[in-house]
Amino acid sequence: MNNQNIFNEIRSKIDIVDLIGEYVPLVQKGRNYFGVCPFHNDTNPSMSVSREKQIYKCFSCGASGNIFTFVRDYEHVDMKGVLDILAPKAGVVLENNVVSKKNSKYDKIYEIYELANKFYQNNINTKDGQKAKEYLKNRGINEEIIKEFEIGLSLDSMDSLTKVLTKKGYDDLTLDRIGLSSNNHDLFINRIMVPIQDANGRTVAFSGRVYNKKSDHKYVNTKETEIFKKGTILYNYHRAKEHARREKYLIIMEGYMDVFRASSVNIKNVVAIMGTALTTEQSDLIKRTSHNVYLCLDGDNPGQKAMMSVGEQLEKVGLQVKVICLTDDEDPDSYIYKYGVDKFKSLIESAISFSDFKLSYLKKGINFNSDLELSQYVDTVIKETSNIKDEIRREIILKKLANDTKLSYNTLEKRLEEYLAKSNNVHKEPIKVNTTKENIKLTKYDKAAYGMIYAMLLDKKYLDKFEKQSLYFAIAPYRYLLTEIEYYYKKYRNIEIADFYTYLLDKEEVLELYNKIISFVDSDMINDNAVDDYMKVIKDYNVGLEINRLKDLMKKTYDEIEKSKIAEEIKLLRIGE
Ligand code: CTP
Ligand code: MN
Repeated sequence: MNNQNIFNEIRSKIDIVDLIGEYVPLVQKGRNYFGVCPFHNDTNPSMSVSREKQIYKCFSCGASGNIFTFVRDYEHVDMKGVLDILAPKAGVVLENNVVSKKNSKYDKIYEIYELANKFYQNNINTKDGQKAKEYLKNRGINEEIIKEFEIGLSLDSMDSLTKVLTKKGYDDLTLDRIGLSSNNHDLFINRIMVPIQDANGRTVAFSGRVYNKKSDHKYVNTKETEIFKKGTILYNYHRAKEHARREKYLIIMEGYMDVFRASSVNIKNVVAIMGTALTTEQSDLIKRTSHNVYLCLDGDNPGQKAMMSVGEQLEKVGLQVKVICLTDDEDPDSYIYKYGVDKFKSLIESAISFSDFKLSYLKKGINFNSDLELSQYVDTVIKETSNIKDEIRREIILKKLANDTKLSYNTLEKRLEEYLAKSNNVHKEPIKVNTTKENIKLTKYDKAAYGMIYAMLLDKKYLDKFEKQSLYFAIAPYRYLLTEIEYYYKKYRNIEIADFYTYLLDKEEVLELYNKIISFVDSDMINDNAVDDYMKVIKDYNVGLEINRLKDLMKKTYDEIEKSKIAEEIKLLRIGE
């Protein structure tokens, strides 16, 4: 079986609506399904999924394709990775090496990181690792967690890793560049090593924690490299994503230790932001796991402050955010360690909405006796409240605020209405679900060519008819696409819209046109009469071109006999001979 057949078989066994529905909630509208597109920042349902064609298309960002491209782009994997995910779902067993893995220019760096990771992990299991293990054990981190998170140890030596790697033939310049050593010296010395993986589970960086002596730096981290862009990575994402999808929520914590602890009590849908602000890219990653997120950062001031900005960012990408509140001196790690998992789970249960968190955060430290502070506070709260869609909740907040501040409800309400009027002007653009049909302005010829090609895809008899009439496409991209259709029919006898998509994936010059055609045309635009019309338009267009060519020729010809011959030809063409 070659690749195309394998892809086709898997595709035939997985319904695209079911598949995408596992990632994004879909709602049926007419013949298609709609959901929020995961490939750009959006809260409107701009992605349409067609069960009939087994393709998806986003009318906002243009993302489109079949089940394979969806999984490829969603999971950030190559086609081999896509098959690994979809083959089991389809119940298709892959024989080894049917799909060869494409080499990435970063393969060598990944390879070195894998070796370093193995080296560190090995160290912690030797005599050198006893102290480190003791430290971890004292913090309640057992062997299982050490294995699960591939925790390792860098030795108390200046160059043990560098030596190992240079012996294997990697040059010191490379090791410097990728952040493992510096001038033949190791970067990580005598630290407990936490490997950091990207969304595909490849180790791309390390974080080393002190454990047996004083240091100004609790953690030493790998610098940004070709394969490590801090703002694109969330710690434990590749493990947590499946769990989050199953549990229908993701928990966001601050540090490695929090993740280790949560995992030790079997809470696996957790990522750590590694103590920094959240980027849009990271929020998008989060959005791919679940619509619901729980923020559980440290209970201290910096943690609360971070909760404000991280929560804001998550709401911006359209996520439902809740906040788990810990007391001042706790982080998730210490909380679970002290009070146990059941208590922590009840904290999850009683998590508050992000807007409630914001309100109580804003209230902290306000001096209600200062007119200025009080009025600023009231204003901020009302502004925040104006962003809440639920009218009842707005009223509850205003009542509380009136009560807290001893201001009259009416005054507060008036201010709220001012804000609402303002934000209505900003936000009330109509929600647009564009349809391509309105969007693309096609010429009569293009419409006919689109229809003709779609007809050929649906039924080979239309291809035969087209060729029997000696018709051809005068415009190159159509011609190229037709060549591919002919080839595919010869080889596979039958065309499915979504399978042909797979076939065209590496043929960029025609894929775009194909994309447009399959999202523009529907099967109800194809029948014998319609196809006859399409062929007529295409024929007329060709005749027009031919007449123009002959006219040009006539201008250049001086031989009168030749000239009248050409004129005769033009006349015949005009009357349709
Ligand atoms: N961090 C860092 N460098 C530091 C401090 C923190 O990179 N000097 C990042 C790490 O990713 C860390 C996270 O911020 O995991 C949260 O910091 P913190 O809560 O201080 O660290 P923990 O991992 O929880 O470690 P511990 O409980 O051992 O203090
Ligand atoms: Mn911590």
